[in-house]
Amino acid sequence: EGAPLLFSPLTLRGVTARNRLMLAPMNQHRAKDGFVDDGLLVHLGKFALGGFGIVMTEASAVLETGRIGPADLGIWSDAHIPGLKRVTTYLRSRGALSAMQICHGGRKGAIQRPWHGFGPLDQTDMARGDNPWPLVSATAEAVGPGHATPEALDREGIDKVVAAFADAASRADKAGFDILEIHGGHGYLIASFLTPVVNRRTDEYGGDLAGRMRFALEVATAVRRRWPSSKPLFFRMSSIDGHPAGWTLADSVVLARALKSIGVDLIDCSSGGLRGSTAIENSLRYPGYQVEYSSAIRRDADVATGAVGLILDGPQAEAILAAGQADLIIVGRQALYDPFFAHHAAQALGHDPDFENWDVSAGWWLAKRR
Ligand code: FNR
Repeated sequence: EGAPLLFSPLTLRGVTARNRLMLAPMNQHRAKDGFVDDGLLVHLGKFALGGFGIVMTEASAVLETGRIGPADLGIWSDAHIPGLKRVTTYLRSRGALSAMQICHGGRKGAIQRPWHGFGPLDQTDMARGDNPWPLVSATAEAVGPGHATPEALDREGIDKVVAAFADAASRADKAGFDILEIHGGHGYLIASFLTPVVNRRTDEYGGDLAGRMRFALEVATAVRRRWPSSKPLFFRMSSIDGHPAGWTLADSVVLARALKSIGVDLIDCSSGGLRGSTAIENSLRYPGYQVEYSSAIRRDADVATGAVGLILDGPQAEAILAAGQADLIIVGRQALYDPFFAHHAAQALGHDPDFENWDVSAGWWLAKRR
């Protein structure tokens, strides 16, 4: 009997991850003007020490006005590169691949930190120095009561955002990232074009599925051109947006096929988040609640996929891979609970009994302890 699938390497283009576990993108709301600080380096570094094959940054803004909250990580300026380079250098030194998620928040921008209520930035936030900024979206409709009404992007505005994504890709390459992910889900700018619930445009960027997909495909094409062909490109989508008249799983399969044909290597299969809250995640909280989307997209679009959403331990992750439901296991909150998730999953699966995958300064002692 061979090694667990979870600990088999994953090769995409010119890079190989040591296992099938990736840290989910998770906004830390700690960046000042988009810059990495020591806290973020330590935060991400601990997951490399914890054995993850790939460590992904939080949603990183391609424009200052594309931030979700005031303290998002940024990649809208060359000045961000050196701080990010510290992160990628450290992750590599601990055997993990580094990945960056790039994002434009669209109409879901200028919001408070989750623990301040997730609402629009208000007087209390402004007193802290967190001022709102003008928003853009597919359509001039606010995400909810109290939120600013975004400006609908015109042709020139669209071109500027596409160029910003491409510039971000080149900066991410300079910063040493191995993998790049475009955030196309959760109601942010790209998702606002995809779903008919928000996109009521009458130009070539709206209307039928092809029209609504146009912006996402232009972004992915521009990014793929600027991102080295030796490096993998991921795309996160909301596989369904949860609205009865909204984006469907069948739409996701069509989009996944189109993305694959322009050089996207893996679809990160999330869901929901169309409005302010992630309604689907909140209403359907059972282990592996989004795995079925990964499974369907992988099968029907014939593309590599990542499964995410309450994947809680090694045996559950191994079963998902064994059933052919995903190529990559993406772990969010359980990794916040246990940064050593990957090492502990290996123990649970009877892999690495001698703690050889641990940092030697820990592993040497743990092997002696038995
Ligand atoms: C998230 N999530 C998220 N998703 C994303 O695409 N970009 C992001 O920056 C964030 N930020 C973020 C912060 C925090 C603290 C959490 C808990 C979540 C969603 C995340 O990547 C993941 O899809 C969900 O959390 C579901 O997976 P888990 O947590 O059940 O493993």
